[in-house]
Amino acid sequence: MAASTKDLITLIAMDPEEIRDIIRQAAVLKKERNGGDVPEVMRGRTGVMIFEKPSLRTRITFETAIYELGGHSINLQSNMVQIGKRESVEDVARNLERWVHLIVARTYLHDTVVQLARHASIPVINALTDQFHPCQALAFGLTVHEHFNEPESLTVAFIGDGNNVCCSLMALCAKLGYHFRLACPKGYEPSAQLVSQCSETAARNGASVDISNDPQKAVTGALAVYTDVWTSMGQETESERRKSDFARFQLNRALLAHAPSDAIVSHCLPAHRGEEITGEVLDSSQSVAFDEAENRLHAQKAAIVHLLARK
Ligand code: CP
Ligand code: NVA
Repeated sequence: MAASTKDLITLIAMDPEEIRDIIRQAAVLKKERNGGDVPEVMRGRTGVMIFEKPSLRTRITFETAIYELGGHSINLQSNMVQIGKRESVEDVARNLERWVHLIVARTYLHDTVVQLARHASIPVINALTDQFHPCQALAFGLTVHEHFNEPESLTVAFIGDGNNVCCSLMALCAKLGYHFRLACPKGYEPSAQLVSQCSETAARNGASVDISNDPQKAVTGALAVYTDVWTSMGQETESERRKSDFARFQLNRALLAHAPSDAIVSHCLPAHRGEEITGEVLDSSQSVAFDEAENRLHAQKAAIVHLLARK
């Protein structure tokens, strides 16, 4: 299926079938990584990566993905380009489109990625913004696919902050017809507008979105339990307040005991062991966090193939 937009900015803009296609393609690419038919959609092409925030997984997996798809990548230090400061976002986009074939950007402001996509004729992939992390959600989708095949119904519980990762998982679940539950402290919910948009999408796909302040209720019956850091990049000054606000929202053995015993547990990583998740749970046999980290590579390769195959 052709991409419905030229970019991957949020999953909200994508059709459920498009998301399913990317996940299925990711599974094939993973199987065929050491042999098989690699779609060299980046052959003779260059991807540029702009990271305003730190990264291990996203940076390495995109560079590897571009290389394995036959292409070349350039990592543009964000202090070099000073996007929006030294030069407007629009002008950065209008320069890059003249030389390269793909932009991968991790930015603070979500609008920076939106503007890059608007002003560049080439595909732009959101590698995390303050609001969304769609590549993480796609990797979670692949991990679910591996564990439960393509479940007709699944309940996913997110324990913690209504942050970028949470918002992208909520969007993925709404599109794929999975029930999504968030348990967070009061005041840490995603925006009411996004919740309502995802609730409507979920309802159309036979699922639901439930936001509560009750972690035990959220994990009861959930076959996938997810968490992320309490303090995201850029929120460091709030860290102490957040530690106290989120104290009841740790994913530990006692909380997990309320979920089915065959539930999978995930985390986008990096994890703060002893804060949002205990080391015991992260290292347990139920944890798929490192499988999901591995799946970032395959999911992003599939996303690149999806966006570039028609060009
Ligand atoms: N999960 C994730 O995006 O990790 P990095 O911040 O290390 O890229
Ligand atoms: N919510 C985290 C995710 C890191 C991958 C952050 O934005 O820092």
